[in-house]
Amino acid sequence: MGVTRTPLIAGNWKMNEDHLQAIALVQKLAWTLKDANHDFADAEVAVFPPFTDLRSVQTLVSADKLEIAYGGQDISANDSGAYTGEISGAFLAKLDCSYVIIGHSERRQYHNESDELIGRKVLAAVRHGLVPVLCVGETAEDLEKFGASAVPVSQVKAALADFPKDAPLVVAYEPVWAIGSGKAATAEQAGEVATVLRATLTEILGAEAADKVRILYGGSVKKANIAGFMKQKDVDGALVGGASLDVDEFAGIAQFGKHVTV
Ligand code: 13P
Repeated sequence: MGVTRTPLIAGNWKMNEDHLQAIALVQKLAWTLKDANHDFADAEVAVFPPFTDLRSVQTLVSADKLEIAYGGQDISANDSGAYTGEISGAFLAKLDCSYVIIGHSERRQYHNESDELIGRKVLAAVRHGLVPVLCVGETAEDLEKFGASAVPVSQVKAALADFPKDAPLVVAYEPVWAIGSGKAATAEQAGEVATVLRATLTEILGAEAADKVRILYGGSVKKANIAGFMKQKDVDGALVGGASLDVDEFAGIAQFGKHVTV
């Protein structure tokens, strides 16, 4: 028996927008979604601004009672102490973050984040009541050598080795070759990997918990291709990079039910 998973459309702003720009962007996003009569029961919308924007976003969301959720782009594996430059999950929770992105391929690549560290970060998120958005995905080289799902499957297994079965979780499948390239995976490719990932989650967490996990696709998602991804039975949303900085485009993605792909 399948559960109903509310789709999640998430915008990873990466290192873009200062705190003043963030206020303008979230405000415009809220207005645009309101104008479009967006129903947050149809698709949850979340943004992931840089850390220095989060306090401003929190203030706006709480003052205007916006339904837009938000989170950090990374978290420390540690809760406090001598870890210069790191951000504790306790700080994110205090800012009413709901989510935190963990193990984005840009962190894996530029900061040498290992599966082991990513697993510890996932547990740190759980400790602080944040929903981890665990990112996995293969490079173009991996794709050629191992096919599409081998690397994401091993990344999920490694990161969730000690994961408590009842904690909420989001997994984002982001093929590295599709990120920022304008060359998205096909909807079928994304759907196939998502199905394999759900089977992996079933192995690790059991069927009931795996059924509740939302699996997002990420990599060159746009208004024009979102509907195809959302038709896949195991794809429950998108993690959007570049297009999340363009309010009309991002709101259009959140409104995926209203348009069809060609
Ligand atoms: P793009 O949507 O810009 O390809 O980025 C995807 C991504 O990395 C989201 O985390």
